[in-house]
Amino acid sequence: MKNTWIRVDEYFGDLLAPEDDALRQVLRTNNEAGLPPICVSRMQGKFLFLLVKITQARRVLEIGTLGGYSTIWMARALPAEGRIVTLEVDPKRAEVAGRNMLAAGVQDRVDLRLGRALDTLPSLHAAGAGPFDLVFIDANKENNPEYLEWAVKLGRPGTVIVVDNVVREGKVTDAKSRKVDVRATRRMTELMARHPRLNATALQTVGAKGYDGFVLAVLES
Ligand code: SAH
Ligand code: DHB
Ligand code: MG
Repeated sequence: MKNTWIRVDEYFGDLLAPEDDALRQVLRTNNEAGLPPICVSRMQGKFLFLLVKITQARRVLEIGTLGGYSTIWMARALPAEGRIVTLEVDPKRAEVAGRNMLAAGVQDRVDLRLGRALDTLPSLHAAGAGPFDLVFIDANKENNPEYLEWAVKLGRPGTVIVVDNVVREGKVTDAKSRKVDVRATRRMTELMARHPRLNATALQTVGAKGYDGFVLAVLES
Protein backbone atom coordinates (compact mmCIF):
# COMPACT_ATOMS: atom_id res chain seq x y z
CA MET A 1 0.00 0.00 0.00
CA LYS A 2 2.93 2.35 0.64
CA ASN A 3 3.27 3.13 -3.08
CA THR A 4 -0.42 4.05 -3.28
CA TRP A 5 -0.08 6.31 -0.23
CA ILE A 6 2.85 8.08 -1.85
CA ARG A 7 1.04 8.41 -5.18
CA VAL A 8 -2.04 9.89 -3.53
CA ASP A 9 0.08 12.33 -1.48
CA GLU A 10 1.75 13.38 -4.73
CA TYR A 11 -1.57 13.79 -6.54
CA PHE A 12 -3.15 16.00 -3.88
CA GLY A 13 0.16 17.58 -2.91
CA ASP A 14 0.89 18.81 -6.42
CA LEU A 15 -2.56 20.43 -6.59
CA LEU A 16 -3.12 21.60 -3.01
CA ALA A 17 0.25 21.81 -1.26
CA PRO A 18 2.89 22.54 -3.89
CA GLU A 19 6.29 23.27 -2.39
CA ASP A 20 7.86 26.47 -3.58
CA ASP A 21 11.62 26.87 -4.12
CA ALA A 22 12.15 27.92 -0.50
CA LEU A 23 10.58 24.75 0.97
CA ARG A 24 12.37 22.51 -1.54
CA GLN A 25 15.62 24.24 -0.59
CA VAL A 26 14.94 23.55 3.11
CA LEU A 27 14.68 19.82 2.37
CA ARG A 28 17.89 19.95 0.35
CA THR A 29 19.72 21.84 3.10
CA ASN A 30 18.48 19.40 5.77
CA ASN A 31 19.65 16.51 3.64
CA GLU A 32 23.07 18.03 2.92
CA ALA A 33 23.54 18.79 6.63
CA GLY A 34 22.85 15.13 7.41
CA LEU A 35 19.61 15.74 9.32
CA PRO A 36 17.33 12.68 9.46
CA PRO A 37 14.36 12.84 7.04
CA ILE A 38 11.75 12.94 9.81
CA CYS A 39 10.10 16.30 9.20
CA VAL A 40 6.39 16.38 8.42
CA SER A 41 5.31 15.73 4.82
CA ARG A 42 4.16 18.66 2.72
CA MET A 43 0.54 17.51 3.19
CA GLN A 44 1.04 17.49 6.97
CA GLY A 45 2.81 20.85 6.73
CA LYS A 46 -0.17 22.21 4.84
CA PHE A 47 -2.47 20.74 7.51
CA LEU A 48 -0.53 22.64 10.22
CA PHE A 49 -0.67 25.77 8.05
CA LEU A 50 -4.46 25.38 7.80
CA LEU A 51 -4.79 24.84 11.56
CA VAL A 52 -2.96 28.12 12.18
CA LYS A 53 -5.35 29.86 9.77
CA ILE A 54 -8.51 28.17 11.07
CA THR A 55 -7.69 29.01 14.70
CA GLN A 56 -6.48 32.48 13.69
CA ALA A 57 -3.47 31.73 15.85
CA ARG A 58 -1.08 34.59 16.58
CA ARG A 59 1.16 32.77 19.04
CA VAL A 60 2.35 29.27 18.21
CA LEU A 61 4.61 27.01 20.26
CA GLU A 62 6.48 24.17 18.58
CA ILE A 63 8.45 21.59 20.57
CA GLY A 64 10.99 19.98 18.20
CA THR A 65 12.36 22.15 15.37
CA LEU A 66 14.79 19.92 13.46
CA GLY A 67 15.53 21.97 10.31
CA GLY A 68 12.43 24.12 10.69
CA TYR A 69 10.37 22.62 7.85
CA SER A 70 7.16 22.44 9.92
CA THR A 71 8.06 25.78 11.53
CA ILE A 72 8.14 27.46 8.14
CA TRP A 73 4.76 26.03 7.10
CA MET A 74 3.20 27.38 10.31
CA ALA A 75 5.07 30.71 10.22
CA ARG A 76 3.74 31.34 6.73
CA ALA A 77 0.15 31.05 8.01
CA LEU A 78 0.65 33.66 10.75
CA PRO A 79 -0.48 37.26 10.44
CA ALA A 80 2.32 39.86 10.23
CA GLU A 81 2.43 40.33 14.01
CA GLY A 82 2.19 36.59 14.72
CA ARG A 83 5.06 34.68 16.31
CA ILE A 84 6.17 31.08 16.61
CA VAL A 85 8.45 29.95 19.41
CA THR A 86 10.22 26.72 18.48
CA LEU A 87 12.38 24.59 20.78
CA GLU A 88 15.37 22.49 19.74
CA VAL A 89 18.00 20.72 21.85
CA ASP A 90 20.58 20.01 19.15
CA PRO A 91 22.87 22.99 18.34
CA LYS A 92 23.65 21.75 14.84
CA ARG A 93 19.97 21.28 13.99
CA ALA A 94 19.17 24.69 15.46
CA GLU A 95 21.90 26.25 13.34
CA VAL A 96 20.53 24.61 10.18
CA ALA A 97 17.01 25.69 11.14
CA GLY A 98 18.19 29.26 11.65
CA ARG A 99 19.69 29.32 8.17
CA ASN A 100 16.50 27.81 6.72
CA MET A 101 14.29 30.44 8.42
CA LEU A 102 16.45 33.19 6.96
CA ALA A 103 16.41 31.67 3.48
CA ALA A 104 12.63 31.28 3.67
CA GLY A 105 12.26 34.88 4.89
CA VAL A 106 10.31 33.98 8.05
CA GLN A 107 13.06 34.78 10.57
CA ASP A 108 11.17 37.80 11.96
CA ARG A 109 8.25 35.60 12.97
CA VAL A 110 10.30 32.79 14.49
CA ASP A 111 11.86 32.68 17.95
CA LEU A 112 14.16 29.64 18.01
CA ARG A 113 15.28 28.55 21.49
CA LEU A 114 18.19 26.20 21.85
CA GLY A 115 18.06 23.84 24.82
CA ARG A 116 16.22 20.90 26.33
CA ALA A 117 12.53 21.66 26.03
CA LEU A 118 11.99 20.67 29.67
CA ASP A 119 14.41 23.47 30.61
CA THR A 120 13.10 26.02 28.12
CA LEU A 121 9.40 25.52 28.88
CA PRO A 122 9.65 26.54 32.57
CA SER A 123 11.71 29.60 31.65
CA LEU A 124 9.15 30.59 29.00
CA HIS A 125 6.45 30.23 31.66
CA ALA A 126 8.45 32.21 34.23
CA ALA A 127 9.01 34.96 31.66
CA GLY A 128 5.25 35.21 31.10
CA ALA A 129 5.37 33.89 27.52
CA GLY A 130 2.09 32.95 25.91
CA PRO A 131 -0.67 32.13 26.19
CA PHE A 132 -0.14 30.14 23.02
CA ASP A 133 -3.06 29.64 20.64
CA LEU A 134 -1.61 26.49 19.09
CA VAL A 135 0.99 24.03 20.39
CA PHE A 136 2.66 21.45 18.13
CA ILE A 137 4.43 18.72 20.11
CA ASP A 138 6.96 16.92 17.91
CA ALA A 139 10.22 16.33 19.83
CA ASN A 140 11.50 13.33 21.81
CA LYS A 141 8.44 11.22 22.39
CA GLU A 142 9.42 9.98 25.85
CA ASN A 143 8.68 13.42 27.32
CA ASN A 144 5.25 13.78 25.70
CA PRO A 145 3.34 13.55 29.04
CA GLU A 146 5.41 16.45 30.41
CA TYR A 147 5.09 18.42 27.17
CA LEU A 148 1.34 18.02 27.32
CA GLU A 149 1.30 19.44 30.85
CA TRP A 150 3.39 22.41 29.74
CA ALA A 151 1.08 22.99 26.78
CA VAL A 152 -1.82 23.24 29.24
CA LYS A 153 0.12 25.62 31.50
CA LEU A 154 1.09 27.82 28.59
CA GLY A 155 -2.35 27.70 26.97
CA ARG A 156 -5.73 29.38 27.44
CA PRO A 157 -9.29 28.20 26.92
CA GLY A 158 -9.47 27.33 23.23
CA THR A 159 -5.80 26.49 22.73
CA VAL A 160 -5.34 23.74 20.16
CA ILE A 161 -2.74 21.05 20.85
CA VAL A 162 -1.36 18.67 18.21
CA VAL A 163 0.89 15.75 19.15
CA ASP A 164 2.71 14.13 16.23
CA ASN A 165 3.68 10.48 15.71
CA VAL A 166 1.33 8.82 18.17
CA VAL A 167 0.43 5.78 16.03
CA ARG A 168 3.78 4.49 14.75
CA GLU A 169 2.41 1.76 12.49
CA GLY A 170 0.02 0.70 15.22
CA LYS A 171 2.68 0.09 17.88
CA VAL A 172 0.72 2.33 20.24
CA THR A 173 -1.79 -0.43 20.97
CA ASP A 174 0.89 -2.71 22.44
CA ALA A 175 0.25 -2.36 26.18
CA LYS A 176 3.26 -4.54 26.91
CA SER A 177 5.71 -2.60 24.74
CA ARG A 178 9.02 -1.83 26.41
CA LYS A 179 9.79 0.98 23.97
CA VAL A 180 9.96 4.26 25.90
CA ASP A 181 8.28 6.14 23.04
CA VAL A 182 5.28 3.82 22.97
CA ARG A 183 4.95 3.81 26.75
CA ALA A 184 5.16 7.60 26.91
CA THR A 185 2.62 8.07 24.13
CA ARG A 186 0.24 5.76 25.99
CA ARG A 187 0.78 7.66 29.26
CA MET A 188 0.26 10.95 27.44
CA THR A 189 -3.00 9.68 25.94
CA GLU A 190 -4.24 8.40 29.30
CA LEU A 191 -3.38 11.75 30.85
CA MET A 192 -5.34 13.44 28.11
CA ALA A 193 -8.30 11.12 28.59
CA ARG A 194 -8.68 11.92 32.27
CA HIS A 195 -7.71 15.58 32.08
CA PRO A 196 -10.73 17.70 33.06
CA ARG A 197 -9.83 20.45 30.60
CA LEU A 198 -8.75 18.48 27.54
CA ASN A 199 -11.01 17.23 24.79
CA ALA A 200 -9.21 15.15 22.18
CA THR A 201 -9.23 12.72 19.31
CA ALA A 202 -6.53 10.74 17.51
CA LEU A 203 -6.40 10.44 13.73
CA GLN A 204 -4.42 7.78 11.88
CA THR A 205 -2.60 8.95 8.77
CA VAL A 206 -0.95 7.31 5.79
CA GLY A 207 1.10 9.03 3.12
CA ALA A 208 4.59 9.90 2.05
CA LYS A 209 5.75 9.47 5.67
CA GLY A 210 4.24 6.01 6.10
CA TYR A 211 1.59 4.96 8.63
CA ASP A 212 1.37 7.15 11.71
CA GLY A 213 -1.03 9.66 13.22
CA PHE A 214 -1.57 12.57 15.52
CA VAL A 215 -3.61 13.60 18.53
CA LEU A 216 -5.67 16.76 18.20
CA ALA A 217 -6.94 18.37 21.40
CA VAL A 218 -8.57 21.54 22.58
CA LEU A 219 -8.07 23.08 26.02
CA GLU A 220 -11.40 23.89 27.64
CA SER A 221 -12.01 26.54 30.29
N1 SAH B 1 8.93 19.47 13.72
C1 SAH B 1 10.00 19.08 12.82
C2 SAH B 1 10.54 17.72 13.14
C3 SAH B 1 11.07 17.57 14.54
S1 SAH B 1 12.00 16.08 14.77
C4 SAH B 1 9.46 19.08 11.39
O1 SAH B 1 8.42 18.44 11.18
O2 SAH B 1 10.07 19.68 10.50
C5 SAH B 1 12.22 16.14 16.49
C6 SAH B 1 13.26 17.17 16.96
O3 SAH B 1 13.15 17.26 18.39
C7 SAH B 1 14.69 16.76 16.65
O4 SAH B 1 15.34 17.76 15.89
C8 SAH B 1 15.34 16.60 18.01
O5 SAH B 1 16.69 17.04 18.08
C9 SAH B 1 14.46 17.47 18.88
N2 SAH B 1 14.51 17.12 20.30
C10 SAH B 1 14.74 15.89 20.82
N3 SAH B 1 14.74 15.95 22.16
C11 SAH B 1 14.52 17.24 22.49
C12 SAH B 1 14.44 17.93 23.73
N4 SAH B 1 14.59 17.31 24.90
N5 SAH B 1 14.21 19.27 23.70
C13 SAH B 1 14.06 19.91 22.53
N6 SAH B 1 14.13 19.30 21.32
C14 SAH B 1 14.36 17.99 21.30
C1 DHB C 1 10.72 10.47 14.25
C2 DHB C 1 10.36 11.69 14.80
C3 DHB C 1 9.36 12.44 14.24
O1 DHB C 1 8.97 13.63 14.76
C4 DHB C 1 8.72 12.01 13.08
O2 DHB C 1 7.74 12.78 12.56
C5 DHB C 1 9.08 10.81 12.51
C6 DHB C 1 10.09 10.04 13.10
C7 DHB C 1 11.79 9.65 14.86
O3 DHB C 1 12.35 10.08 15.88
O4 DHB C 1 12.06 8.58 14.34
MG1 MG D 1 7.04 14.23 13.93
